[in-house]
Amino acid sequence: MRSILITGCNRGLGLGLVQHLTQLPNPPENIFATCRDVSKAKALQEISRTKNNVHIIEVDLTDFNSYDRVVNEVNAKVGNEGLNVLFNNAGMATKFTRLGMVKMEQLTETYLVNTVVPIMFTKAFLPLLKKAADGKKGMGIHRAAVINMSSIIGSIAENSMGGFYPYRCSKTALNAATKSMSIDLEDDGILVACMHPGWVKTDMGGTSAPLDIDKSVGDMIKLLPTLTEKHNGCFLQHDGKILPW
Ligand SMILES: NC(=O)c1ccc[n+]([C@@H]2O[C@H](COP(=O)([O-])OP(=O)(O)OC[C@H]3O[C@@H](n4cnc5c(N)ncnc54)[C@H](OP(=O)(O)O)[C@@H]3O)[C@@H](O)[C@H]2O)c1
Repeated sequence: MRSILITGCNRGLGLGLVQHLTQLPNPPENIFATCRDVSKAKALQEISRTKNNVHIIEVDLTDFNSYDRVVNEVNAKVGNEGLNVLFNNAGMATKFTRLGMVKMEQLTETYLVNTVVPIMFTKAFLPLLKKAADGKKGMGIHRAAVINMSSIIGSIAENSMGGFYPYRCSKTALNAATKSMSIDLEDDGILVACMHPGWVKTDMGGTSAPLDIDKSVGDMIKLLPTLTEKHNGCFLQHDGKILPW
């Protein structure tokens, strides 16, 4: 993998992914890390000061008019090589929501950020992903891949608790979109999968989560180079286990 773009890199799993990628023996030549407000992304700024392969891109992903600028920034660096991996990581959650408490605004905002954004952002990056996949064989991150950060909470089969309407439905919809993308982009040689990072200690996961960021991210970074056509359209856990829809 020569290039990767990860969204939501100022904190949590996105920041962890950037940190781990820079520490690989052969790190990608270009790591594009998006965040909403660079001035507040101190840890990310610190990494990009010392690692010249880390490029910070400021973007609020719900500002769909800014996507052309982001694509142009990436294109200016990768040129004819295109973009190997798009990791749609940014997301939001609301508190546990029972049916009697759910609010329309929570449903629509969470759907916008967790479902509409990754679909539209992937659409915007298709030309660069196709460029990276062009002329190569097989499927994997040596060619082109889209990884959508989902959650086991989006699994219909694993839902034993109910509730969580905004977050659960947005991730279930993201899973459905992932499957469609994997079918639509197969002929272009672009692998598409969704990932459950585990329940992880971040602002979103909270302090009771069993996994720390290093464990979850370390597993995902190890998993990425092992992905092949057999993972296309799959729902993967951080450690490679295939999850039920
Ligand atoms: N932690 C877990 O246990 C867990 C479990 C399953 C799945 N996940 C998924 O993993 C991903 C990362 O979660 P996390 O735990 O790292 O969460 P987090 O610590 O809350 O970080 C969320 C990230 O998403 C960004 N973001 C949210 N809305 C955005 C928008 N409109 N535009 C741009 N960026 C936006 C945030 O930016 P700001 O700082 O600017 O808000 C932040 O960088 C999410 O998709 C989440 O659903 C997490």
